[in-house]
Amino acid sequence: MTDEQLLALARQAAAKAYAPYSNFQVGCAIESIDGEVVTGANMENACYRLGLCAEQSALTTAQHGFGLANVARIAVVGGTDATVCTPCGGCRQAILEAAQLSGHDVEIVCGSGDGSAVERHTIADLIPFGFGPANLASN
Ligand code: THU
Repeated sequence: MTDEQLLALARQAAAKAYAPYSNFQVGCAIESIDGEVVTGANMENACYRLGLCAEQSALTTAQHGFGLANVARIAVVGGTDATVCTPCGGCRQAILEAAQLSGHDVEIVCGSGDGSAVERHTIADLIPFGFGPANLASN
């Protein structure tokens, strides 16, 4: 699957977000090393702090679908304008978990809501010096 195809699936997922408080819809598509894809979107709550990000929603489905250790590539799209939506700090930490379990870096393709801009990152770029399962390996 191309980056554009994975972004298109993330965009479709964003359309199904439940984000009535921020009105900021985010979608995420995760591809496994075998080419399987799962998606998720942000889901907010009247108790604002309980809202769930799109990436963590999709990572939960990825664990059930093919296992976090098999995550290869992630696409994220959010908003409506030309600003590229990159994963928040908490989501970077959640993606780092998958990356360290898999033993390889995870690619993150980030798109703007209006489809005009794309940025490519890796989780190693987005959360340098991170703390993950590898740090606990000796316990
Ligand atoms: N959001 C995500 O789903 N992923 C991110 O990485 C950034 C933020 C959501 C959370 C909230 O529902 C809305 O976007 C505005 O912050």
